[in-house]
Amino acid sequence: MLEFSCSRVCKEKASSVTEDKMVFVCVEDFEKKAYGVLEKSALDYYRSGAGEQFTLNLNREAFRRIRMRPRFLRDVSKIDTRCNILGIDLKWPLGIAPTAMQKLAHPEGEGANARAAGSAGSIYILSTLSTMSIEEVATAAPNTNKWFQLYVYKDRSLTEKMVRRAEKANFKAIVLTIDAPIFGQRRSDVRNKFSLPPHLRLANFQGIKADGVRSDNEATSGINAYVSSQFDPTLTWKDVAWLVKLTRLPIIVKGVLTREDAVLAREFGCAGIIVSNHGARQIDTVPAAIEALPEVVKAVGNDLVVMLDGGVTQGNDIFKALALGAKMVFIGRAALWGLACDGQRGVEELLRVLRKDFEITLALAGCQKLSDITLDMVAHESAYARL
Ligand SMILES: Cc1cc2nc3c(=O)[nH]c(=O)nc-3n(C[C@H](O)[C@H](O)[C@H](O)COP(=O)(O)O)c2cc1C
Repeated sequence: MLEFSCSRVCKEKASSVTEDKMVFVCVEDFEKKAYGVLEKSALDYYRSGAGEQFTLNLNREAFRRIRMRPRFLRDVSKIDTRCNILGIDLKWPLGIAPTAMQKLAHPEGEGANARAAGSAGSIYILSTLSTMSIEEVATAAPNTNKWFQLYVYKDRSLTEKMVRRAEKANFKAIVLTIDAPIFGQRRSDVRNKFSLPPHLRLANFQGIKADGVRSDNEATSGINAYVSSQFDPTLTWKDVAWLVKLTRLPIIVKGVLTREDAVLAREFGCAGIIVSNHGARQIDTVPAAIEALPEVVKAVGNDLVVMLDGGVTQGNDIFKALALGAKMVFIGRAALWGLACDGQRGVEELLRVLRKDFEITLALAGCQKLSDITLDMVAHESAYARL
């Protein structure tokens, strides 16, 4: 049973789930609490997907359509979740995906999220659009394994400088997000005219304060206006080759949904792929990440490290992604809910809940270690339709 204090709202004990005393046993508990903590426009920014949010729901639903096929009588007295990803030893195969503007969730922002990832033996990916700078996060979480997520700016020298800063600050990989030449239309952000509150700034760019992330245009949010003025929509695979040459750090492309792009990632020298639909925030009606995973693994799984994010909220989601060939998964919104609840401690508790759930799943499925998880331990629901 877990218990933790939610310093921004109230103190809680773990005895029962009531209004005042709440036990946090799953990601939804943190999410529910976060809904009561966050301001409406920040909450909408975090939770929303693109369009009518078909894919947002599908990211969860698709996991449910996969059934577990547990094996029994296999001695699961000891469970070992350790793994090695691109030369980094991790306690378990889950990390924190890049999400923009984490100080909207909690004043400790990215630093708290990164420290929590470190104490859980995970990887933290810092967004380009962060409210703490690369250097501030490096100082706040020196012992965390950190990757830097890159958006390519029209001003290519700005991009190059960011890569150099990430190298210098001991980040261990560059995660190039390829699915955001422009930002998707998130309806509530447009309705709310979402923009960065005046006390926050995009910390990786001197001089870009809230003013720079505001829209005077009725039809778009402040963040979309900023992105279309700054990001380079002419980006192609040739630029990936440029980036691979530019840095000694491994390049991971994030946002791959097809075997065709997976093959290009291999051709252009990437070390890894994150199969992702950007938390369903870009194009609505694309497949769920877990649906796209098998074709990517089949195409390049022996050559590149294939990872996944999108809709991961419980232990059996992690198991299913690994069974289908991912080496690791990431959570985006879930970490934001933990952060909103109680800063670093909230994220640590959330990761503890998830880790415990994953260990239980492994044991109940008959696996001692990650290499025991095999494709035949999951089946799509359609396999049972003939019964
Ligand atoms: C509020 C929010 C902000 C995000 N910001 C970024 C970003 O700056 N860069 C990026 O590559 N992905 C960004 N993403 C996408 C996440 O990295 C990740 O792909 C997604 O959240 C995974 O889905 P999940 O939220 O269901 O776990 C963002 C997602 C959310 C929800």
